[in-house]
Amino acid sequence: MTAPALDRLNRPLRDLRISVTDRCNFRCPYCMPREVFGPGYAFLRDPQLMSTEEIVRIVRAFRGLGVEKVRLTGGEPLLRADVPELVRALKTEVALRDVALTTNGWLLESKAVALRAAGLDRLNVSVDSLDDTVAGKLNGLGFSIARVLRGIDAATAAGLPVKLNCVLQRGVNDGEILTLAEYFRERGLTLRFIEFMDVGNTNQWSAMQVVPALEIVRRINEKWPLEAVGPGYRGEVATRYRYRDGRGQIGIISSVTEPFCRDCNRARLSADGKLYTCLFASLGWDVLGHLRGGADDAEMQRFLTQIWSGRTDRYSDERAGLLADGTPRAKIEMSYIGG
Ligand code: GTP
Ligand code: 5AD
Ligand code: SF4
Ligand code: SF4
Repeated sequence: MTAPALDRLNRPLRDLRISVTDRCNFRCPYCMPREVFGPGYAFLRDPQLMSTEEIVRIVRAFRGLGVEKVRLTGGEPLLRADVPELVRALKTEVALRDVALTTNGWLLESKAVALRAAGLDRLNVSVDSLDDTVAGKLNGLGFSIARVLRGIDAATAAGLPVKLNCVLQRGVNDGEILTLAEYFRERGLTLRFIEFMDVGNTNQWSAMQVVPALEIVRRINEKWPLEAVGPGYRGEVATRYRYRDGRGQIGIISSVTEPFCRDCNRARLSADGKLYTCLFASLGWDVLGHLRGGADDAEMQRFLTQIWSGRTDRYSDERAGLLADGTPRAKIEMSYIGG
């Protein structure tokens, strides 16, 4: 196995998240509010996007730093037609142990079989509500949740391990914690509740909207007793709990009330090939520009090692202080970097 690159806080690089497009077929107000991401918005143009071949070359260089897991994200990754070929290339040409994808599920019903056949290992699907009125508001376009649920059924039928992500917002969907838990418990699928985060510059975040992890666990535990499960691996973002009645697990991603920066082993690549060493970063490194400028594999690896070795990011640990002293900060948008 490759010795991992370590950053300034001694954190290895293990997990690379790659955005394959900054476009999305939803307009979730907490991520891509319609007023900002409307018809005039300057999305990336095709020549700016990394091609499958370029992604493969970049990931190969990352392999040399210790990356074992790649997660494809967006915007909405399934908007890109070549995603199955990309998955196949990452599994066969780069021999990655774990290739996963995070999707909103809208296009999943028709794509699940091709993704599995291409070798996709795991899938995370966002489901914020099972109520069509709330779901329609949360996807910003009034779309019903039924099609997403059919997509999830198609994925599990195709043999893909599926987890669900639910971002909770106080007064919006926190009344549905038990309904959501029950729906996925009955289907043996792991649901992860995510604390609403202050990502990007446009989602009007306020601490009042965050539903704290402890409250989520308490409410579920009152109905279906839970017990804590240790982390599956160092740097796992979700804290997991097992239902004592044997009906599977839930997870909580508590990046606001219990940040996990000390073990953060993730890097993020935007669809135009910029490397960000934190979800809340302001600046990225032009990895694609370096590749297109003619760097060979060894040079690419040196460039990436240099970036990772200088990394000191720990935004979530510092959040309270930064917000309290009003430090202004232009952050990248979540739809650009893929969550
Ligand atoms: P696996 O652990 O590989 O299953 O994936 P994951 O949980 O990282 O994947 P997913 O894309 O489903 O992430 C769920 C959510 O957790 C993200 O959308 C973010 O909201 C949050 N998250 C993931 N990674 C980080 C991180 O490094 N920092 C912070 N603050 N939040 C993160
Ligand atoms: N806070 C927490 N999670 C978010 N996501 C998007 N925006 C936010 C936010 N502000 C989640 C999506 C999806 C994942 C990729 O990121 O709901 O599950
Ligand atoms: Fe919603 Fe995900 Fe699209 Fe953002 S990228 S608008 S969270 S579906
Ligand atoms: Fe990692 Fe930044 Fe998230 Fe902390 S805030 S866990 S450093 S991505």
